[in-house]
Amino acid sequence: ASNDTSLNRPLIHFTPEKGWMNDPNGLFYDNVTDLWHMYYQFNPNDTVWGQPLYWGHATSKNLTTWTHENIAIGPDSDDAGVFSGSIVIDYNNTSNFFNSSINPGQRVVAFYTYNTAESQTQYVAYSLDGGYTFTKYSGNPVLNLNSTQFRDPKVFWHDETEKWIMVLALSQEYKVQIYSSENLKEWELQSNFSHHGILGYQYECPGLSKIPIVKSSDSSLNSSNSTSPDYKWVMFLSINPGAPQGGSFTQYFIGDFDGKNFTADDHQTRFLDFGKDYYAFQAFDNTPNNDVLGVAWASNWEYGGFVPTSPWRSSMSLIRNFTLQEYHPNGEATELNLFSQPVIDHDVLNANHTIHKGNLTIGSGKNVTFDFHNSATGLVELNVTFKVNTSSIRPHDFVDLSFYLRGASDPHEYLRLGYENTAPAFFLDRGNSKVNFVSSNPFYTDKTSVNFLPYSTELNTYKIYAIADRNILEVYLNDGLAVSTNTFFFTEGNHIGSIDVIAGIDGVYELVDFEVKQLSV
Ligand code: FRU
Repeated sequence: ASNDTSLNRPLIHFTPEKGWMNDPNGLFYDNVTDLWHMYYQFNPNDTVWGQPLYWGHATSKNLTTWTHENIAIGPDSDDAGVFSGSIVIDYNNTSNFFNSSINPGQRVVAFYTYNTAESQTQYVAYSLDGGYTFTKYSGNPVLNLNSTQFRDPKVFWHDETEKWIMVLALSQEYKVQIYSSENLKEWELQSNFSHHGILGYQYECPGLSKIPIVKSSDSSLNSSNSTSPDYKWVMFLSINPGAPQGGSFTQYFIGDFDGKNFTADDHQTRFLDFGKDYYAFQAFDNTPNNDVLGVAWASNWEYGGFVPTSPWRSSMSLIRNFTLQEYHPNGEATELNLFSQPVIDHDVLNANHTIHKGNLTIGSGKNVTFDFHNSATGLVELNVTFKVNTSSIRPHDFVDLSFYLRGASDPHEYLRLGYENTAPAFFLDRGNSKVNFVSSNPFYTDKTSVNFLPYSTELNTYKIYAIADRNILEVYLNDGLAVSTNTFFFTEGNHIGSIDVIAGIDGVYELVDFEVKQLSV
């Protein structure tokens, strides 16, 4: 196509070859073949959302690069959609869908919402070939409330009660319904988790995961209270529209789950990601060591249908690994928070350039320019630890430490990100681009920020890990205490090729450690 923008296609963020993609679905790990499966909401016929809507399919050996597979599940008519849902491995054949010829580790059962003009009902399908093709259960639907706003079943095995659990949204009643089952076909309502968090227009894509509490690397926090549990349950919940950042976002709640009720510890809604592009989060089933790994759609319903990419629209986020850790949001409180780490297998990537510096004091002129001009791949990792010398700051100084990630062929297109000490906050400005969409779309928020406190108070030290991949930037602050995921759009082929570091005031910032890596697949 004349407007093909394939040079800007992300390298390690999954994109469909062509067509429209939204939510991740059916995430599971096959431990027989050591393969990760990801399905997704897919319209192969257009680059905007539309029906017939399918489950597209991709697989990965390393959670870093993906192989496109054939469409896995489709609707029975063109005006219907196979909406979001999940997959479990039915080791013990509780569903009776399998016979002994199917390896217990490959007894794949899918749950999805069947969307028609009349209703949203819950369907089951099973796979006899490890997740490539599916047979729809003859007793569908397995749940029907005569509602048009009832969707996104996420199913998992609950060890403690030895039952299957399904959470799904009665979207416009602001209810997450919790059902249980012994055979994956008959489901009994246990409770409603209702009217929690930010409501917005509607609830979508709930999830419930048991997440380990790990000791913080901040030594002031290790209270060694032996009676505290080593995990908590976390409810994930997406809303759209009505997000605080605009459009769609994913919130979470920390609490307990007894097989019937989820009880939140407090009344707080927490952000899974502070950027504009992290929606419909889902966790993988059947992971090694019960690690909590998950992925989100890296876009926003406010503008996802307008972004300047072709012949596809949207990518997924990187896969993330989640743990709970304590932290100090201020001088008096100690709170639990989700920590996110990107899962990247560097063995499958080539590091074309690495620049590593330590103990550099940054001034207000242009400092440490790194230049990949002749070989920009568009995949760049930035790892920074910096220290703030507050004694040389006067009141009302605007004291930023800015990283300018500039296009290789046109440096006037750039991302500016960094930290400012008066706010204090991390900031990102993705608005410096010649692409018409960036300046003209009123929902494409240029500037976002996140509260950012020292990683280590004594040393006044902060950490930023950022990865830019062609048209998406993920930033992890202080080892994943806060994350911000945002797409960005430069002129096609103008890959990030240099980084300038500039401070607002001389002598305030020291780069304790600074590493830039340019990678390729
Ligand atoms: C969330 C969502 C889901 C629905 C799917 C349809 O982005 O609206 O609630 O199942 O997308 O594609």
